[in-house]
Amino acid sequence: MKVAVIVGSVRKDSFNRKLAEFVKKRYNNRFDMEILDLSVLPLYSQDIENNEPQEITDFKKSVKEADAVLWVTPEYNSTIPGVLGNAIDWLSRVDKVMIGKPSWIMGASMGNLGTVKAQMHLRDILFAPGLQSPVLIGNEVYVGAVHKKMDETGTITDEATVAFLDQVADNFEQWMKRFI
Ligand SMILES: Cc1cc2nc3c(=O)[nH]c(=O)nc-3n(C[C@H](O)[C@H](O)[C@H](O)COP(=O)(O)O)c2cc1C
Repeated sequence: MKVAVIVGSVRKDSFNRKLAEFVKKRYNNRFDMEILDLSVLPLYSQDIENNEPQEITDFKKSVKEADAVLWVTPEYNSTIPGVLGNAIDWLSRVDKVMIGKPSWIMGASMGNLGTVKAQMHLRDILFAPGLQSPVLIGNEVYVGAVHKKMDETGTITDEATVAFLDQVADNFEQWMKRFI
């Protein structure tokens, strides 16, 4: 099963990027995950959406070819980061590659709430007419206090978090049987 992974942080040492890499590595026998780079995406403008830059064509192609999208995002100012909003705006227009494509959401933060509000908003956004993505519910992955649960290599050292991720990965795999 192909999964496009969209990380809402372009920071070099991003915890969310490390979480995405941990998930990709841990479940690589079950999911073929490609982590997409949002830092190369130009800003969305309606003026260029029908004559999009090559980076956008490549980005949309990766999403289109995936069976599902895994969103791994921090929370910025109580919502999703701008880089993620920009990527979503591109995906929501012209060929609308997200329509009908299942989504799975995770997030990590140093605070205790672990991106609750950002994920709440992201779920709502994914139901917009240009996106219409069915979202895995009841398996909400909020990795709070992430700096205490991960070592410097990005390995999650907190056993309860790893056990929960394993359970959620199983649930996601089961749920995906409805779609592929
Ligand atoms: C502009 C900005 C806004 C932030 N707003 C929030 C917020 O609303 N809630 C929160 O829990 N953390 C907030 N943070 C802290 C981020 O959760 C923290 O920087 C996190 O490590 C970012 O994810 P990353 O490590 O993947 O880059 C904010 C950070 C920045 C830079």
